Parts: sequence; structure tokens; C-alpha cells
Amino acid sequence: MAITTNMLAATPEAIHEAAGLLRAGRLVAFPTETVYGLGADAGNPEAVRRMFAAKGRPADHPVIVHVADAAAIEALAASVPAAARTLAAAFWPGPMTLVLRRSPRVSDLVTGGLETVGLRVPAHPVARALLTEFGGPVAAPSANRFGRVSATCAEHVLEELAGHVDLILDGGPCPIGLESTIIDLSRGAPVILRPGAVTAEQVAALLGTAAAPSGAAPRVSGNLPSHYAPQARVEVVPPEALVARALALGTAGKRVAILAPQEPVGLGPGIRWVQIPAEQAAWARSLYASLRRVDELGCEVALTTLPKEEGLGTAIADRLRRAAGPRDLEPEPLA
Ligand code: TXA
Ligand code: MG
Repeated sequence: MAITTNMLAATPEAIHEAAGLLRAGRLVAFPTETVYGLGADAGNPEAVRRMFAAKGRPADHPVIVHVADAAAIEALAASVPAAARTLAAAFWPGPMTLVLRRSPRVSDLVTGGLETVGLRVPAHPVARALLTEFGGPVAAPSANRFGRVSATCAEHVLEELAGHVDLILDGGPCPIGLESTIIDLSRGAPVILRPGAVTAEQVAALLGTAAAPSGAAPRVSGNLPSHYAPQARVEVVPPEALVARALALGTAGKRVAILAPQEPVGLGPGIRWVQIPAEQAAWARSLYASLRRVDELGCEVALTTLPKEEGLGTAIADRLRRAAGPRDLEPEPLA
């Protein structure tokens, strides 16, 4: 059943109201430095069920648990390995999620039945204030419908979840714009399950190694081939092939958008240019908005190139490849 969705500027009063709603088992969307989250009281099974329903997400997908400070993970993890303490000291609060063996206190609903739990201490002042005032763990996936592009501003949350979330705290655009780096420390050597603003290079510098995900990695919904996808089909093409590919598609009657820092020369009518920043941090910040823009323009195909795959470029390329991935695959079985 549809509910009324309120959107409020994230003032102290609004954050106070949001904490009260979480306590009452309601859903609150809030800004983090990565993307907006759709928060529910992690200790309230009814609230967590409501959150899955609002997202349209399968119930066996694990959700990240957000806490106000690193000390709070002691009660949620079965044990905290030394590597977790090292990473937490370096990157929390911040855009990093640690997957650890879970304490029995964490509900199966939150972990999707896994023996591990994803934990994050976000840095955004609104997220921190909300978590502190609420005083407990908040389960929060990205505030978008399942399989769609994450929301990086309050208006995009409203587009995705109007009628499904009680309150949206508007804290402006998210400063990073891509979801947190997920690092699995539950199986010995660290494994990066999802690249993000905490880079593989940074993790490797601290821990010695940081491997890419293995085939045995547990299911991460962001690891499904098609995820973070707009309505339009996304194609990754080499820079020198952009214009030719756009013209070929245009000739075939397709409405095409080119995502590029500079307006390509030689575009025909009906081929739209969506400007993206050349610099990686700005590209990451505006990536999801640019994919939404392609849909707003009514384009059927979006052509993009990939950044250099180092640092944040690894995460940008990962999301673009997933946006371009096949759409009709079933989720893989749990490892
Ligand atoms: O930046 C972020 O991480 C944002 C903000 C709101 O914190 N959250 C986010 O949540 O991206 P979500 O649910 O859209 O993506 C979290 C990913 C999912 O793909 C989920 O499968 C994975 O984290 N995950 C959560 N718990 C896990 C676990 N125990 N083991 C492996 N993957 C896990
Ligand atoms: Mg998500």
C-alpha cells in the first residue's frame, strides 16, 4: 500500500523526527557521502521486511548495517580481525564496508541468511547525526528500486521511492556519488567485493594485499551483471569509435546519447551529448545523474568510454560495465 512520503531539509529537527520514525519501525532515506540510503531499524524485523518491499529487492540479499562509530561493530561481529581494526582506523568514518563473521545478534533478515554481516560507519554529517540520535544499527541499502541506478540526491530518491518511504532527509548531493568499497575479511585474506572510493591501492598499502573478487565470492547484488542500470541500454566503446557508433545507431533509427567530457564533432541530428567531467572524482559524483539524464532525454542507447582503471577509475569502470551488462540474467545461487 502506498504511504505518504515527506521530504525535509536535514535540519536538527528533521533528523530528530527521522530518528523517531526509525524507532517506530518506519523507513527513512538519508544522505551518506557515497549515495542515499534507505534506512530501517536493523533490530526490527517488521521494519526490515518493509524496507525490502519498498526496494522490490529479493529477501535473500544481505543489507549493509550502518553504525555511528567503529566501537559499535564489536556487538555485531563474532570477532574483529586485526585487519578490520587497521582498515577501520584508516577509513572510518568513510566510504568503506567491512564484511565480517556476524554475531548471532544480527538477524537473518539483514544478512540474507549469510554467516557474515556488512558493516559501515558513514562520514556524512547527516548520517552521523541520525545514527547517533537513533542510537542503534540501521540497515540501509541504496535508496533505489532493485537493479536501478543509485540515488545521489534527494530528488532522485523521491523519483525512485515516492509512496514507499516515510521520510527523505534532503542533505543535498552526495559528495562521492558511488557506493562504498566492500571488503570481505571473513575468509582470511581480504577480498574487495565492490570497488569504491577507498581504493584497492590504499587497501594494499595498508594490508599488503587486496585481491579482486573470486568466483566463490558470496552474492552481492551489485555483483549481478546488470545492476546500476538506467532504462536506456548502455554500451561501452573505445573513444575513437564513439562518433561512428553513434552515427550507425542513429542511422538505424535509435535515439542515442553520448556521454563525453567534450562535445564530439560530427554528430548528426537526434544524437544527444551528455557532458560528463573529465576528472575522476567529479565523474564519479555525477555518474548516476548522467545515466538518469539519458533516460530523461528519451534516449534508447547511451554510449560511454571507460576511465583509466586505477584509483577511483576502477569503481567508475565497474559501475559502467555493470550498467552495460546483460539485463535478463537470474541472480546467481548463493555461494
Ligand atoms: O555506499 C553504500 O554502501 C550504500 C550506502 C547507503 O551505505 N549502500 C549500498 O547498499 O550500496 P546496497 O544494499 O545497495 O549494496 C550493498 C551491497 C549489496 O550488494 C549486498 O549484497 C552487499 O553489499 N552485502 C551486504 N552484506 C553483505 C555480506 N554479509 N556479504 C557480502 N555482501 C554483502
Ligand atoms: Mg544498491
